[in-house]
Amino acid sequence: MVSRLMKKKSWMSKGVTAALLLGITCGGMFLPLCTPQAFAAAGTEIILPAPETASGLPVMQALQQRKSSRRFADASLTDRQLSLILWAANGINRPQEGKRVNPVARRIYNVDVYAVLPEGIYLYQPAKHALAQVFAGDFRPSLSKNPSYVQTAPLTLVYVANPVAPNPSRPVDPVKQTGFDNIAAGAMTQSVALIAVAENLGTCVRGSFETEAFRKAAALTDQKVLISQTVGVLP
Ligand SMILES: Cc1cc2nc3c(=O)[nH]c(=O)nc-3n(C[C@H](O)[C@H](O)[C@H](O)COP(=O)(O)O)c2cc1C
Repeated sequence: MVSRLMKKKSWMSKGVTAALLLGITCGGMFLPLCTPQAFAAAGTEIILPAPETASGLPVMQALQQRKSSRRFADASLTDRQLSLILWAANGINRPQEGKRVNPVARRIYNVDVYAVLPEGIYLYQPAKHALAQVFAGDFRPSLSKNPSYVQTAPLTLVYVANPVAPNPSRPVDPVKQTGFDNIAAGAMTQSVALIAVAENLGTCVRGSFETEAFRKAAALTDQKVLISQTVGVLP
């Protein structure tokens, strides 16, 4: 699947330029969009096709059909579907303002989305609508200790909260922030579930997965792994 996407070796070779450009962007109007991982990621980058936002089902039909699915066909997602799912999870829907599909508290976009694909683990970068590889290799078997559909499903999203930087004029209440992070991730998973219905895909939100193994593979440090969501083609 990924071979059909625009794929390039990124920021190892172009690291300085990319870091400078991102730094300039982060210093300007897109500051709240940028997360520490965006600078740390290195390796293969997947540029996703633009999301086809004119497609889809009426929202009432999508809501009526939403459900958890735990049985999937042995089939890949299309590039188009991957693009739509990542956009629904954490994409930008108002580029002029840098605002996103899903709401967040205080316009602090600190929840990142990782995509566990057969080729590796990738961090979704909303501003580029691209995936930056953080782990090469098939991590899916390690998502569960017991035999499970998540080990073969084409995609599992993992929602990860970055710590919010202290701001003396607007102090962060850690308990409240944890609630905000979970609410943000809830909105994100629901948007993915609704897009999935429109694409005849199945999804299941999963709290039970190997978070420590994921944390290690994705080289996370002080982030919180919130929840996962598996996506597959319905049989
Ligand atoms: C926060 C959260 C965690 C969940 N964790 C799991 C899980 O670990 N395994 C699983 O099979 N389903 C999990 N689910 C899915 C629920 O079991 C499912 O939503 C519930 O049974 C209702 O079914 P429905 O989604 O088809 O309406 C989770 C759902 C949520 C919102």
